[in-house]
Amino acid sequence: MQENVHVLDHPVIKHKISILRDSNTGATEFRSIIKEISIILAYEATKDLELEEYELETPIAKTTGYRISGKKLGIVPILRAGLGMVDGVLEVLPAAKIGHIGMYRDEETLLPVEYYSKLPKDVENRDMIVVDPMLATGGSACDAIGRLKEKGCKDLKLLSIIAAPEGVEKLQKEHPDVDIYIAQLDKGLNEDSYIVPGLGDAGDRLFGTK
Ligand code: PRP
Ligand code: URA
Repeated sequence: MQENVHVLDHPVIKHKISILRDSNTGATEFRSIIKEISIILAYEATKDLELEEYELETPIAKTTGYRISGKKLGIVPILRAGLGMVDGVLEVLPAAKIGHIGMYRDEETLLPVEYYSKLPKDVENRDMIVVDPMLATGGSACDAIGRLKEKGCKDLKLLSIIAAPEGVEKLQKEHPDVDIYIAQLDKGLNEDSYIVPGLGDAGDRLFGTK
């Protein structure tokens, strides 16, 4: 694993991922755990945010306070399943603007098809965090990131709950400048390009569509 891939290695994450994997876990609990893990991923991914100092007074003494400065931020969920991560990331970055990119994997070709895009007007001036719970072949994430680069974005990160090594490799090859934050790296893909052991179809499990 190269240094731009950050994997959460923590017993609490392993516990939560196991609940997500379980086919008996219902949509309400599934959504809530996706949100919890997204908060932790966002926390990890924002360790490098710039701070500026300012003077403040506590009830006891004057001291130096710190506030987030530097470039503005944006979150881009890849529809649909990326939506499940937005509220968690917003808990850490409440002022971030949100863009949406809609992609689905064609069931025959397994290639991503873009069907929607709406991004903040000043997207080129923002550091953008792309969110999608599943990084499988990497096709959807690579295309969404490519689209953001076409719009002028220079600083991009990807947050995913579960990744396959194939997806990580593709992303590193096509977008080596993008930092990847994942909660769990799984074994690989099956013949239908689903992550193994994975958690199934993240969109269907989040929204109860199957
Ligand atoms: C899932 C997932 C990713 C994509 C990952 O979306 O949320 O976007 O598959 O696969 P890839 O790495 O091979 O591109 P899906 O196409 O099932 O659409 P959905 O979110 O609308 O269910
Ligand atoms: N998309 C999903 O939702 N799950 C997978 O395992 C692969 C792609």
